[in-house]
Amino acid sequence: MKSTYEKLFEGNRKWVDDTLARDPEFFEKLAKGQKPPVLWIGCSDSRVPANEITGTLPGEIFVHRNIANMVVHTDLNMLSVVDYAVNALQVTDIIVCGHYGCGGVIASLGKKQNGLVDNWLRNIKDVYRLYQRELDAIKDKDKKANRLVELNVMEQVLNLSKTSIVQNAWAKGQPLSLHGLVYDLRSGILNDLETTISGQSDLPTYYIMDAELAVH
Ligand code: CO
Repeated sequence: MKSTYEKLFEGNRKWVDDTLARDPEFFEKLAKGQKPPVLWIGCSDSRVPANEITGTLPGEIFVHRNIANMVVHTDLNMLSVVDYAVNALQVTDIIVCGHYGCGGVIASLGKKQNGLVDNWLRNIKDVYRLYQRELDAIKDKDKKANRLVELNVMEQVLNLSKTSIVQNAWAKGQPLSLHGLVYDLRSGILNDLETTISGQSDLPTYYIMDAELAVH
């Protein structure tokens, strides 16, 4: 029996054939460059692939994924992706997409050590701390985890808005909205958490920075 790895190439050739049958110039057009209007920051979970669950094609979404869709201020990888997406690609929307049943969020609720990843998951515990009263009151384990998934997405959207990258784009008058979504693995449905931030006025004043210096 073939392994999943070995089947990747068969799957790829079939996808190429199907894609060319629909649009013979598909790859030619894409090879010229990309101008995706959306940046997606999602979980690495194999069940939440950005393009498939949104019915989008290659070229339509710029994607960054990590465990539990985090926006951590010291993460140079994430910051580089956001900077490139905002300043070079000029995306108009950034999505942080979480999902119910997220292993990272569930692990952050436990006491078990999981190794290096615990340092990453601690950022989720810090979200718990902000909403401790609400979360402590939820006795059902799954409901508690699901609510933390939502609150975590909201906090990561807020984290994006705190960056100089996003605030400088707003200062320049560049249209840029930050959205929080949650995906339900059980139904396949993607919902907007209605936590969209579209400008500095949506932020607490202590996070607002002046426009960047002209020379730097
Ligand atoms: Co996850």
